[in-house]
Amino acid sequence: MRLGGRTIPGRTLYPTWTGPHLRTRHLWHTADTGGPFELRVRAAGKKKWRGTAQAESRRIAVSGVEPHRVWSAPVTGLRAGSEFEYQVLSAGTPVFTATSQARKSASQPHRFVVFGDCGQNSPEQKQIAYQTHLAKPDFIFLTGDLVYSRGRIPEYRERYFPVYSAPEASAAAGAPLLKSVLFAGAPGNHDIAETDFDKYPDGQAYYYYWKQPLNGPLGEPGKLTSKTQGSEANVKAFRDAAGSHYPRMANFSFDYGNAHWTVIDGNRYADWTDPALADWIIKDLRSASKAAWRFVGFHQPGFNSSKAHFAEQHMRVLAPIFEAHGVDVVFTGHVHNYQRSYPMKYDPATKKATLDRKFEKGPGRPNGVIYLVTGAGGARLYNPEQQDAMDTWQEFTQVFISKIHSFTVVDADNAKLTIRQIGADGKEVDNFVITKR
Ligand SMILES: [Fe+2]
Repeated sequence: MRLGGRTIPGRTLYPTWTGPHLRTRHLWHTADTGGPFELRVRAAGKKKWRGTAQAESRRIAVSGVEPHRVWSAPVTGLRAGSEFEYQVLSAGTPVFTATSQARKSASQPHRFVVFGDCGQNSPEQKQIAYQTHLAKPDFIFLTGDLVYSRGRIPEYRERYFPVYSAPEASAAAGAPLLKSVLFAGAPGNHDIAETDFDKYPDGQAYYYYWKQPLNGPLGEPGKLTSKTQGSEANVKAFRDAAGSHYPRMANFSFDYGNAHWTVIDGNRYADWTDPALADWIIKDLRSASKAAWRFVGFHQPGFNSSKAHFAEQHMRVLAPIFEAHGVDVVFTGHVHNYQRSYPMKYDPATKKATLDRKFEKGPGRPNGVIYLVTGAGGARLYNPEQQDAMDTWQEFTQVFISKIHSFTVVDADNAKLTIRQIGADGKEVDNFVITKR
């Protein structure tokens, strides 16, 4: 359970993300030796532990970093939404104990938190982690740029794990979220930035430190996803560590409660005008026709009023697909502030946006898709001067908060979606309510 002198428990989605078992998978890091490891669980208040399947591990042996392992084991057989305790055992001895919550079913209301651009080890990242802890989400979705600035192992160890695995929750340190709360995340440009493995053999750690569903398009390295280059040995070390995650884990989808999530790679090399890729999104959204809510998450926003990254709005090409298949909200980051669009429809051919200015903040049924930029999770804020300068906003922008770090809290039940944007000080800076009936 120890790595670099620290205990780093973690948890993320199990690859078979759907079905009746509501399975999740726990992850933890260890040195290269030790074990074998097992995971056991018991429902809150119960005495009897129940073993799960034997844990499996992935060996990370990239140049320049002490070889270590990422272990994982599935958690099954728990009542949806119930509290439970779990232990990791090494050679039969418990080495880590924590509590968590089983995934909720479609009939249970749920709450999730969204933010991005976070892994900076900044005071504001820790404040957001602490406020997230106070919000008690069922899961957390990160919109990319998970760690700065090169997606490398030491950056995870200095700027990500300590903040989200802080021993105690506090605004000064962060919060112990990873051991108890489900995380999912999209790859940002900083997460996949290092493609030259001779320069940074531990680049693109996203592909072995995260475990997410492998149900996206298969992908071809260098076309759909990030490139790998360098000596045969360094590229092989990366590919051995990443296994089947690379390149496929750049895009995936999952269900949580009554909502369906489609997570896509917004980085420039991914050409979403390619019909083969766009068809995957269409099929995925069609498959979710029974979900009460459809969310899409990726890094680079298609609709952004900030002067920062203004030229990178290539993802708006997907707007007609989102509209045709009933996407409710698109969550993005990349731009380090908060922006809410009017409910809108957009035609990439004519570049015309049709805005629903009557929705205001609901409650009601918006006519179009609402696009959120929620990239104020820890990195330096962009364009604070634009918050009060409405004449600098694009016509599709309804709310623009760039003077304070913030995160998004969403409460979903079958008929209503309540969305609040909360500042690093815990005060609400925006809210709106979508109803379907
Ligand atoms: Fe970014």
